[in-house]
Amino acid sequence: MPDIEDLPGIGPKTAEKLREAGYATVEKIAVSSPKDLSELADLGETIATKVIEAAKEMADVGGFITAEELQEKRKSIGHITTGSTDLNDLLGGGVETQAITEVFGEFGSGKSQLAHQLCVNVQLPEEKGGLDAGAIFIDTENTFRPQRIIQMAEGLQLDTAAVMKKIRVARAFNSSHQILLAEKSEELLRQGGIRLLVVDSLTASFRAEYIGRGTLAERQQLLNKHLRTLHEMADLYDVAVFVTNQVSAKPDAFFGDPNKPIGGHVLGHSATMRVYLRKSKKGQRIARLVDSPNLPEGEAIFVVTEQGIIDK
Ligand SMILES: Nc1ncnc2c1ncn2[C@@H]1O[C@H](COP(=O)(O)OP(=O)(O)O)[C@@H](O)[C@H]1O
Ligand SMILES: [Mg+2]
Repeated sequence: MPDIEDLPGIGPKTAEKLREAGYATVEKIAVSSPKDLSELADLGETIATKVIEAAKEMADVGGFITAEELQEKRKSIGHITTGSTDLNDLLGGGVETQAITEVFGEFGSGKSQLAHQLCVNVQLPEEKGGLDAGAIFIDTENTFRPQRIIQMAEGLQLDTAAVMKKIRVARAFNSSHQILLAEKSEELLRQGGIRLLVVDSLTASFRAEYIGRGTLAERQQLLNKHLRTLHEMADLYDVAVFVTNQVSAKPDAFFGDPNKPIGGHVLGHSATMRVYLRKSKKGQRIARLVDSPNLPEGEAIFVVTEQGIIDK
């Protein structure tokens, strides 16, 4: 992939400004507006327009490709084992790259457990269901626990110190910070070696900050933008994006259907795969595949143990 410095008119100083603003790739610049670019990088709008034109040529974005080429691209899709054979089967072989997988469910249904487990499992070699790569974890609820990672790594007889080193965690303090961290993660993704990006929880901060009808549209719009960024990362860097979304157990007058995820419509149409998690007896969890472009709906059962997620 070309560097943004390769674009005419972009010196090291401007490049740095652009990277800081989250415009770290030629692709990203190619799809930006002259107004945004000129403001962010202190360029005149005419120059910004020229830069964008050059980026478009270099990046070849938005072009049509043949179904055959697309099939070729999809061949590089990787799958990360969840630890449960049943759940892997439900997902067509595990959590896939080049896609957003959303798990939604009540508090305590196992969403964060799955998120932790995937951060460990992505590091496994391919023959064991991993992708031999690291993970990024954007933690919005302060529920990431290194101790849990250690337990899960031990469960798989992995070198715990090595596993911890390959997980990059950032705590997001509010929804704007969360959006920024997702954009910033591109710098890490560009360096390679990362195949999983977790956002746990995708929706909690948005829900907390945007209460009341007046701001609903704004919230949806921001969430939508955030999801677009995540799709872009999934696609450009061949990573699996895994996001969680809490649904309320109590009927919620404002959001209507208690089992409707708070991202509602926007999220419903944005995640590639949607999995509904619920608790069952004896610590079992039931996962239901709700929405997938190419897989049948169905259910899987798994268990959360001290060592992590396993078959029932
Ligand atoms: N060390 C552990 N050993 C066994 N089960 C655990 C352990 N840690 C968490 N769990 C299980 O996971 C549940 C919490 O799930 P979590 O993924 O955090 O929920 P959420 O869906 O709200 O993110 C706990 O109620 C417990 O059943
Ligand atoms: Mg959680």
